[in-house]
Amino acid sequence: EPLALGVDIGGSKIAAGVVAADGTIVDEIRRPTPGADVTQTADAIIGVARDLMSRHSVGVVGIGAAGWINSDRSTVVFSPHLAWRGEPLRESLTTSLDVPVYVDNDANATAWAEYRFGAAQGSRVALCVTLGTGIGGGIIADGQIFRGAFGLAGEWGHMRVVPGGRRCACGNRGCWEQYASGRALARDARDVAETSPVTAQGLLAVVDGVPSALTGPLVTQAAAANDPTAMEIVNDAGHWLGQGIADICAILDPDIVVVGGGVAEVGSLILDPARAAFGHALTGRGFRPEPPIVGARLGSAAGLVGAADLARSSL
Ligand code: BGC
Ligand code: NA
Ligand code: ZN
Repeated sequence: EPLALGVDIGGSKIAAGVVAADGTIVDEIRRPTPGADVTQTADAIIGVARDLMSRHSVGVVGIGAAGWINSDRSTVVFSPHLAWRGEPLRESLTTSLDVPVYVDNDANATAWAEYRFGAAQGSRVALCVTLGTGIGGGIIADGQIFRGAFGLAGEWGHMRVVPGGRRCACGNRGCWEQYASGRALARDARDVAETSPVTAQGLLAVVDGVPSALTGPLVTQAAAANDPTAMEIVNDAGHWLGQGIADICAILDPDIVVVGGGVAEVGSLILDPARAAFGHALTGRGFRPEPPIVGARLGSAAGLVGAADLARSSL
């Protein structure tokens, strides 16, 4: 069996890895995403791919991209966080890399990895919610990714949860991902830091007092180190998370909900408030089976593992 290369391109980082047929990662590289410009993003993907392909014999490449992918998995229709607009990514990468390339949505890739190798094995209907720069979604139904008519199903990061709420990179207001993603954590942290520096002391200490330098990963790290303000911010995000999951469950009735992406690595700090809010929000609660809400077992590597495995299984 040839090895597959998976590349997960998020709003802020690229994670690439060489993946064996059983889902194990043989070699891995992580870098920031140069996202402002389509050419820079492509060059960065080609760079990590060539690095890894020079060290391993790779037969196929799978891309998990933070964007909306058309049904034939060739084109990024739109991306809120990156510059892609109708971008023929498969064609340009196939030409540069000289092996078959398949493009999928990053959250679909994460959902697939968790279904094949992680927390959602054996599930009939699994939902995956990824918390990174934005919120991504993946639906696995009867052993397959449910893609919708045009490839765009599961974009629940852009459900309106607050009418007239915070502006989103997609152009709308009040999208779910403005309240529970890595970017939402950063925004809350900056807001506290500017409004009440005393409350944000611990957070400000790690960025030399510069509120705009606060990022999602810094907030989750501070929360994991028991900083009370950071914990409160993560707790609030968890509340929004559980509420939104309850709404999605009203539509899709899954048997498991897997929460992945970098932010989910704080574990119970975000999952416990999510479970509590879910328990108070699910329609018909007390009269219906409730799916467990669990963290991704493959952690933040799930995206690259899933992208690789989807590519391998498309050969
Ligand atoms: C995008 C999704 C993506 C998610 C996570 C959202 O803003 O609309 O396509 O999966 O962010 O990266
Ligand atoms: Na998706
Ligand atoms: Zn949006």
